Amino acid sequence: MILLTTPTGDIGHRVLARLLAADTPVRVIARDPSKLAPDPRIDVVEGSMSDAATIARALPGVTGVFWLPPGDPSLPSADAAYSGVSQAFCTALPRSAVTHVVGISALGRGWPKPAGQVTATLAVDDMIAQTGVHYRALACASLMDNIARQSDPIRTLGRFFQPTPGNLKLPHVAKGDVARIAADLLLDLNWAGAEERPLLGPEDLSFDEMAAIMSEVLGREIAAVELTMAQFGQMMRDLGASDGMAQAYVEMFTAKNEGMDHLVAPSSRRDTPTTFRMWCEAELRPLIEG
Ligand SMILES: NC(=O)c1ccc[n+]([C@@H]2O[C@H](COP(=O)([O-])OP(=O)(O)OC[C@H]3O[C@@H](n4cnc5c(N)ncnc54)[C@H](OP(=O)(O)O)[C@@H]3O)[C@@H](O)[C@H]2O)c1
Repeated sequence: MILLTTPTGDIGHRVLARLLAADTPVRVIARDPSKLAPDPRIDVVEGSMSDAATIARALPGVTGVFWLPPGDPSLPSADAAYSGVSQAFCTALPRSAVTHVVGISALGRGWPKPAGQVTATLAVDDMIAQTGVHYRALACASLMDNIARQSDPIRTLGRFFQPTPGNLKLPHVAKGDVARIAADLLLDLNWAGAEERPLLGPEDLSFDEMAAIMSEVLGREIAAVELTMAQFGQMMRDLGASDGMAQAYVEMFTAKNEGMDHLVAPSSRRDTPTTFRMWCEAELRPLIEG
């Protein structure tokens, strides 16, 4: 039995679809099961993944787990949103039958300064690895799908906003590639030890280059607009982030601007073939054009 967290989330629902397609027994933790399409193949445990009683109901009979700390921006700090949400799970793991965990994590191991959500997510990797299970941390570059959160300004203004110089090239990976790799690892638990697997996408791109690709795919001019970090922090608060989470976003993007996502050698770029153009054609264009 595989236990999957965040079955209604962007990455989680794609992993779930792949597990179901492979006829693997699946249990999910869902705060609101009514958001899931009814499916007799899915064993649903209702509750929060941060809750010890929910974890206790979810773990019996499970050997493999997909663990995605959602990073809820309304929680007071990045520590609360990552380590806090993962504490009950890590406490329960040593007494469970779980042998393998696949976690969603981020690039940034070795960065010498605080990096907000990234620092917090790497602490979760350490917590899980210290329980003694076999663990793969999928260390994602920035998700290219983040752009989809700005579908409104893209549609109405022809612009999207980042606290990053328009010409700075960074790695971007598609959620579809991340989900496929997570599902493949869960469907064949023939791996051992605790390791990080960097997921870099097929190429580094600047936001100006991404805007040019978006312009070609959408057939209209799209521009990337650079925000100051102060403007970006305020934008995150306006979107519902707590002060602590907004500060963490600022730390994370400052670290990305200073080179955190280039600590991993480009030679480790593999298995994430979706280009930004492919993603725009498959996901952004339908979203913008309705
Ligand atoms: N954005 C980036 O560039 C980037 C880069 C590297 C890593 N990451 C990581 O990628 C992940 C984001 O994944 P995603 O985009 O798939 O997330 P998402 O679409 O925002 O989904 C998050 C899901 O978590 C569920 N959830 C939230 N709190 C929960 C709780 N307490 N108990 C149970 N379920 C809960 C929500 O479900 P309900 O609301 O239905 O309950 C929601 O479906 C995060 O771990 C993030 O750190 C992101």
